[in-house]
Amino acid sequence: MNVLVTGGAGYIGSHAVKQLLDAGHRVVVVDNLCRGHRRAVDRRAAFRQIDLADTRGLTDALTAHAIEGVMHFAALAYVGESVGNPLAYYDNNTAGAISLLKALQTARVKRLVFSSTAATYGEPERTPLVESMPQQPVNPYGWSKWCVERVLRDYSAADREFSFAALRYFNVAGAAADGSLGEDHDPETHLIPVLLLAALGQRERVTVFGSDYPTPDGTCIRDYVHVEDLCAAHVLVMEALRPGDARFYNLAIGRGYSVKEVIASAERVTGLKLPIQYGARRPGDPAILFADSEKISRQLGWSARYRDLDAIVQTAWNWFRSHPQGYRG
Ligand code: UFG
Repeated sequence: MNVLVTGGAGYIGSHAVKQLLDAGHRVVVVDNLCRGHRRAVDRRAAFRQIDLADTRGLTDALTAHAIEGVMHFAALAYVGESVGNPLAYYDNNTAGAISLLKALQTARVKRLVFSSTAATYGEPERTPLVESMPQQPVNPYGWSKWCVERVLRDYSAADREFSFAALRYFNVAGAAADGSLGEDHDPETHLIPVLLLAALGQRERVTVFGSDYPTPDGTCIRDYVHVEDLCAAHVLVMEALRPGDARFYNLAIGRGYSVKEVIASAERVTGLKLPIQYGARRPGDPAILFADSEKISRQLGWSARYRDLDAIVQTAWNWFRSHPQGYRG
């Protein structure tokens, strides 16, 4: 299939590009490089620097490469930043997706796999989360993605040949097993990379955001899914989409680890005692988030190959150790 990947120079998008190519698909990457890295784009893929707001540029790329399916990763994805600058989130994430959909409509592209998020659920009443549970985001980032899910439902109802899947990610972690790709965010705020940057001496200390949560050890619990497992689900879904499909799947491993358990894992993997301090809660952090991915497992046979946290952290550590300056190194 000819596949266009928006955000293919970013962390998750770059891993998806590699897997698509390895599976025999032809890939065009579209990225405005505001957060992504040109060097993260596999050499086998074509590359076009286009902003999502440029509907005409997107349409040209879709037509010129005879695109049959799109994976849409390009987005801003910091919860905290979205609270301070909501317009940037609605503009990039919501308006950007609408611009892309207009291009798909003009170019008659009928398949889309969309990066949604666990943040569309907000503070869950119960865990594990299943896809049918209420969605009530608690920050602009979550709402900006929720809006796209809403638009997709309505657009697909109006065009019965169109098909899409919205994949709701939990905590994506790790790096390509072959060491070729990894995580390089600026600023980096995610727990596992921050711990590993501290192990490399690039952070003086890591603050645990709250130890008084109603969890067994008082720290937040999250479901960490390996980036390669997550991307494998994208390829599977893209290949499975049929006209009229409107699918929603959680992507998670179905078990949660506390912040303290993640720290212990990072210490085992690196063999180092990490500089940890305990601080206040971070606003907007739900105590427990983990999900059931039984639906995608039952319907498409997907399951996470990485189920052990140390194995996930090990792949991230291999990346950070060999690329201490990220893609600049
Ligand atoms: N944490 C710390 N210290 C840090 C960084 C994180 O204690 O320096 C804690 C957080 O409070 C949280 C856990 O580690 O309890 C994981 O935090 P991350 O920032 O790594 O990830 P989040 O769970 O906040 O965010 C992820 C995705 C978001 C998505 C969200 C859905 O990165 O895109 O899940 O809830 F919106």
